[in-house]
Amino acid sequence: MNSSFFRKKSIDKIVSDQIEIEKLEGGSMVRNLGVRDLTFLGVAAIIGASIFSAIGQASANGGPAVSLLFVFTAVACMFTAFCYARFAATVPISGSAYTYAYTSLGEIVAWILGWNLLLEYAISNVAVAISWSKYFVDLMEGLGYHIPDYLTMDFLSAKRAYADAQVALSQGQLFESLSVNVREGYTAYATAPVLFGWHFVANIPALLITAAITYLVYIGIRETKNMNNILVILKLLVIMIVVGVGAFYVQVDNWSPFAPNGISGVLKSVAAVCFAYIGFDSISTTAEECTNPQRDIPKAMMWALIICTVLYVLVTLVLTGIVPSASLAGIEDPLAYMFTQVGLHGVAGVVAASAVIALTSALLVYQLGQPRIWMTMSRDGLLPKAFSNIHPKYRTPSFSTIMTGVLVGIPALFANLEEVINLSSIGTLFAFVLVCGGVLILDLDPENQKKSKFKIPYINAKYWVGVSFVIGIYLYLPNSDSWSNYWTAHWVGDARVDHFLLSAFFLIWLVLAYFSYKVNLSLIPVLGLLVNLYLMTQMGATNWERFLYWCIAGFVIYFSYSYRKSKLHV
Ligand code: ALA
Repeated sequence: MNSSFFRKKSIDKIVSDQIEIEKLEGGSMVRNLGVRDLTFLGVAAIIGASIFSAIGQASANGGPAVSLLFVFTAVACMFTAFCYARFAATVPISGSAYTYAYTSLGEIVAWILGWNLLLEYAISNVAVAISWSKYFVDLMEGLGYHIPDYLTMDFLSAKRAYADAQVALSQGQLFESLSVNVREGYTAYATAPVLFGWHFVANIPALLITAAITYLVYIGIRETKNMNNILVILKLLVIMIVVGVGAFYVQVDNWSPFAPNGISGVLKSVAAVCFAYIGFDSISTTAEECTNPQRDIPKAMMWALIICTVLYVLVTLVLTGIVPSASLAGIEDPLAYMFTQVGLHGVAGVVAASAVIALTSALLVYQLGQPRIWMTMSRDGLLPKAFSNIHPKYRTPSFSTIMTGVLVGIPALFANLEEVINLSSIGTLFAFVLVCGGVLILDLDPENQKKSKFKIPYINAKYWVGVSFVIGIYLYLPNSDSWSNYWTAHWVGDARVDHFLLSAFFLIWLVLAYFSYKVNLSLIPVLGLLVNLYLMTQMGATNWERFLYWCIAGFVIYFSYSYRKSKLHV
């Protein structure tokens, strides 16, 4: 009886399952994707709510220096990209990190990874839907249709804005002097219909677009290469307009101070910035449709990351150069907002219209991806059978598609953009950590290394990890004169959690230093693991708490259902 939590699914089984899925979907895939198509696919998935919306609050937190955080995070993603490519070359079929983990790390790891992919796909799409809604409202406004504020935002934002506005008004400030988002939130809350004392504020456009996309996915819309390429070009075009036109309105004074809230302000934007890169991993799921996956997948991931990083850096600099970064707090449509601030209403309209189309394509990518992951998990027995039901006419995973729609659409009505992004980012980073860790474990067996057609460039981590650990700890620990305050300053309140996380991080770093020395680990996956873990430590106590509850819920389902129902449980 195979009762281990770490039982593994064989590659043969994965291949036979895949053949079955393909039969259902009408034949195997054609190998016609090259580096350019793959890069475009990556860009289509990467560019979304972050650069169109979350960049506003991120810039308010960290100022222009957030551009540097984009570069740092891109490097973490590049390390991770190598690990994804390594897996994609090992498991020779289209799959997600879930499939890779099932063959290499065992069922329980695969389950928790799949559970966190829900945060990466479905929950991240809640953010994209909210972002879409904001630009859609702008577009309607530009066309002369005003949608009541209480139908266009989430309850929490409106309530907070109402409270802030009341304080400001009671202190004698004029309503007109309040920021746009506070005024909108105030109006939404104040004018909303009240049901049993509850103000009905909900994001209706976000729900409607999710329902529409779910319907399209349900009846079997596919991403086609040509359509995808057109939409990506549109995305790039709108960002180029933002940068090209915006550059003329930059006031260099707005760039100083470069980091108005110091390093801690910049690090407050970690979640938004990590979120911005979610999607590069989707390139690895196309392994079967590439002409030369081993060569092209890593290349395309790198290109997509480079292109997006350049664009993100430029957009951040233009945005924070046009409007003072502090004024961007809570603004969910910053790219249109900055043009209205300088009187370019026409450009703002063009940006809003293109953003609506661009974000629709991003929604589609994840709304298509999530049911496929569920379908695989259900075929493995880890989820109920309904999740792999195929619609008799449309040949789509019907139940999974509807569930995805519900799981995205309902939270999109009520959720707050920042909170969704935080949860999605921490879950995704965790998945990245597991993928990097998975490669390290996989490669402990030299046989596995020989079998793989793609090799991560090997740099011996032997001394590097230890040396960098010593430097890291030296930089982290306080200098002698502040030792006396160290405990009282750092181990109280919220700071205590941060320091606990950092201490755990250093401990893992030390363990990796030991193994690097002992078994000559490969440096790139080690760096990927460490940098992603470090980014996770910066997510703050509240997000960690939510993330832990999320994982606990995942384990409860695993132990009470999936473990027993698994096809490997014989
Ligand atoms: N990277 C995607 C976005 O920013 C998820 O919307």
